[in-house]
Amino acid sequence: MSFIIKTNEEIEKIRIACHLAAEVLEMIERYVKPGVTTGELDKICHEYMINKQGVIPGCLGYQGFPKSVCISVNEVVCHGIPNDNQLLKNGDIINIDVTVINNSYYGDTSKMFIVGKPTIQGQNLCKITQESLYLSLKVIKPGISINKIGCVIQKYVESNGFSIVREYCGHGIGNNFHEEPQILHYKTKNNKLILQEGMIFTVEPMVNIGNHDVYTMKDGWTVKTKDHSLSAQYEHTVLVTNKGCEILTLREDDTIPVLLINT
Ligand code: MF3
Ligand code: CO
Ligand code: CO
Repeated sequence: MSFIIKTNEEIEKIRIACHLAAEVLEMIERYVKPGVTTGELDKICHEYMINKQGVIPGCLGYQGFPKSVCISVNEVVCHGIPNDNQLLKNGDIINIDVTVINNSYYGDTSKMFIVGKPTIQGQNLCKITQESLYLSLKVIKPGISINKIGCVIQKYVESNGFSIVREYCGHGIGNNFHEEPQILHYKTKNNKLILQEGMIFTVEPMVNIGNHDVYTMKDGWTVKTKDHSLSAQYEHTVLVTNKGCEILTLREDDTIPVLLINT
């Protein structure tokens, strides 16, 4: 069990796992097109993780989850189960959430893909969601309250007329998938923890066009918006450094530096 402050040895192992997770998202991009099924995308990710990277898909078998990645389409908020029936179509927005286990350490990241020709609504939702994540990463540094992260995200999301999901949060990560601390994406009076150098956690806001309420389907996993409005999510794993943070799951398509100096 690793503690909330990571050792340099642990940091290096988590950094490697995170780079591998990010690489899966870069790899899968060209396969996301109209006509492909989420099951096919899962299979490609699975094969890549096992055969190319030599890592374990962290989602597979986690609390009984049946597939290697989560794929959440349109009004699915998170934990969508890839399947062979659902063909992706023009304008769909999908989140692929990749977790790898490398050398006993976890890396966790997700991003949105727009299938074929984007809709204005879908594109705007994805943009605002990614910007809310970026804005929160730009305040992370030792000495700030963990609350600040959620405050920044909620304020930005709501000022754009969208809502932030309350039921799921970011999390510490290390040689466990989900560790302390919990990272809420909205304002709260609890959770007053102060960030310290050496903490590693995810920030993973889920943003709905309509109301923030969600429900879980009978399969026990798939979470949808109650009002069936579109939902988007982006997730990075970050390390708190002495002056800011390092984005451990940065990809080539990210438009933010890997090392943030947050003054
Ligand atoms: N990757 C998700 C997270 O960001 C958790 C998925 S759990 C699974 O925390 F079982 F659905 F894979
Ligand atoms: Co996560
Ligand atoms: Co994740």
